[in-house]
Amino acid sequence: MVQGLLPLTTLLLVPLSNLKLGAYKCLQQNYYGIYGGRHAFIVDDACWTSSFSLMGLGTSATHDRQESRHLVWLERVRVDPSLLDAPFDVELDWVLGNLTDFSSHSRTSPWSSGIARAPQLPLSTSQRPARSTERAVQTLHRAHDGVLLSMGASVLDAVNFGEVSLPRFWRYSVFPEAPIPLYPVPEEAKQRLREALSTIKFNHVVASIVNGISVYSLRRDIRYLTGEDALSNIVSRHSFSEGVLRAAEWLKEQIEETGASCVLEAFQVGFAPNVICTYAASTNTMETIIVGAHYDSRGSFGSVRAPGANDDGSGTGALVGIARAIARRGVVFRKNVQLVAFAGEEQGMVGSRVYARTLKDAGANVTMMIQGDMLAYHVSGELPQLALSDPALVGTAEVTQILANVSAIYSPDLKVGYSPYPGGSDHQRFHEYGFPAAQVEERIGLIADPMYHDSGDLSEREGYDFEQIQSIAKVELAAVLHVAGFDLSGPAEDVEGGDDS
Ligand SMILES: *[C@@H]1O[C@H](CO)[C@@H](O)[C@H](O)[C@H]1NC(C)=O
Ligand SMILES: *[C@@H]1O[C@H](CO)[C@@H](O)[C@H](O)[C@H]1NC(C)=O
Ligand SMILES: *[C@@H]1O[C@H](CO)[C@@H](O)[C@H](O)[C@H]1NC(C)=O
Ligand SMILES: [Zn+2]
Repeated sequence: MVQGLLPLTTLLLVPLSNLKLGAYKCLQQNYYGIYGGRHAFIVDDACWTSSFSLMGLGTSATHDRQESRHLVWLERVRVDPSLLDAPFDVELDWVLGNLTDFSSHSRTSPWSSGIARAPQLPLSTSQRPARSTERAVQTLHRAHDGVLLSMGASVLDAVNFGEVSLPRFWRYSVFPEAPIPLYPVPEEAKQRLREALSTIKFNHVVASIVNGISVYSLRRDIRYLTGEDALSNIVSRHSFSEGVLRAAEWLKEQIEETGASCVLEAFQVGFAPNVICTYAASTNTMETIIVGAHYDSRGSFGSVRAPGANDDGSGTGALVGIARAIARRGVVFRKNVQLVAFAGEEQGMVGSRVYARTLKDAGANVTMMIQGDMLAYHVSGELPQLALSDPALVGTAEVTQILANVSAIYSPDLKVGYSPYPGGSDHQRFHEYGFPAAQVEERIGLIADPMYHDSGDLSEREGYDFEQIQSIAKVELAAVLHVAGFDLSGPAEDVEGGDDS
């Protein structure tokens, strides 16, 4: 056998709707997560021969497993057809062309052109991966919405750096090196959420706390993150940029001022860290409630500007707004509450995958995880809305039910419904590790933000709706207050209405 070659294996892609996780014993040790609405497994011969019915579950492809190569699912995000420039097949050919072009080029290193890279790369020469001898990009499976590729580390690094051109709506996610032990969300965790749900009714103290999330500070904070506020000097929050590191420090400072303790947790060489902020429980419990967003961003190919006001300055701004509202009333939670700003989301939810795995390995008790990604864009003529991840695809029904319920109570201006496509943000990683999770988003339909993945994703533009961000942030915080329980240590008088002056 050639060195580095593992035995021939089979990739199995199963539509999310086809498989109850845990139904097939031999698949449980071979799970790799969710890619484009499919569960992915890498199955060995023993598993195949022990269970012939596997073949009927989905699509399969054979593949020579090589340690230095990565499996990458590359797909076009489902956006409103009015935003599309070219048919899927045409764009796919561009991508594959660009990748092949890159990989067959005899440049000494993918790091030489540096077009989308910040001037100060947080990576020293010695840390750069050695040039792979195997540069070819191999197509393992071509589907109607994406493609499964195998590529060497140097090509993947170039894709991560934005050195290979991807059309605007394309994104990718890399298979982890080792399988994810398959953990469905335990019944006990769902039962706890059902109990919390049964107690949720209007509470005027909760209302006064969430009304403390102000449009005025959301605007100020988001403008800082995007660099629209000239004082911030943040040109890009691309995961490898200099600006993203400044954003990390700034987020840590802002949230720490509200009484949380924050750590910048590095998760992979070259990437900005996750910003993990914790309000410790006032009672003796390990239970933890997490609100997430990703603070990294993506701009247009070839541009150094990546303001990401909507994606995901909106969700990140909401985290800061939530923190400020907590401080304003001196909220002390009875359970642990974490506000987490992830990096590496645009490179395939890399930061959240590492964090979810770390929590799983530590036996953490995650009561629920709510991810806010793209909260701002409001199509003219539509009602303000709250799209929830559809638990038939990704996430936990009990979490979405709680969010729908508190939305009706505290943000009745929002029309609530399910997002029509699966996953695609950091909650997916928590779901893959068996934690109850859900996403909140801006539209009950396909993405319609014309500045999605564009260097023009600023907050000062038509359709960017701070009030919708505020309403959705109120839902996130109200859900946390109801599920965690809380006491107040701050001023007792109500502050109905917030300070939107
Ligand atoms: C690379 O992609 C762009 C679109 O993003 C396309 O215009 C161009 O033709 C592609 N290049 C190759 C070599 O396919
Ligand atoms: C989490 O905490 C709850 C409440 O203390 C407890 O009932 C449950 O067993 C814990 N679950 C895990 C996975 O530790
Ligand atoms: C919230 O859920 C509870 C229990 O499931 C239900 O009684 C109540 O009517 C719901 N409230 C709203 C506003 O949906
Ligand atoms: Zn995003």
